[in-house]
Amino acid sequence: MFVCVNQRPAGGKPCCGRGGGTDLLAALQREVATRPDLCGSVAVTGCDCLGPCFDGPNLVVYPEGTWYAGVGLDDVAELSRRHLEAGEVVQRLVYAWPDDDEEDGGGDTGAAAPAEE
Ligand code: FES
Repeated sequence: MFVCVNQRPAGGKPCCGRGGGTDLLAALQREVATRPDLCGSVAVTGCDCLGPCFDGPNLVVYPEGTWYAGVGLDDVAELSRRHLEAGEVVQRLVYAWPDDDEEDGGGDTGAAAPAEE
């Protein structure tokens, strides 16, 4: 599990480190360290910016590649119990990446598919 603890100077783009990511990392590490079923099989580590800074604190769980956003200290027990222990995605915290088509104004090009013969 990678938890963003990226720091930026105050007044600019938000960052997870100042927004609770550092405390979140410590709480998740403490949670895993005190759980015999998780300690040794789950690694929780801090990382730099993951990308969606405005929605942080963010974290990503591998190998499944589940992204969570807006995670707070109140979510630690649930993430631990449901995701790390049971392998269940906590849907209410899942980060929804913007659709590439929406982001670049693209989408359907309007091109018609070739007619079948
Ligand atoms: S600062 Fe955490 S995702 Fe960018």
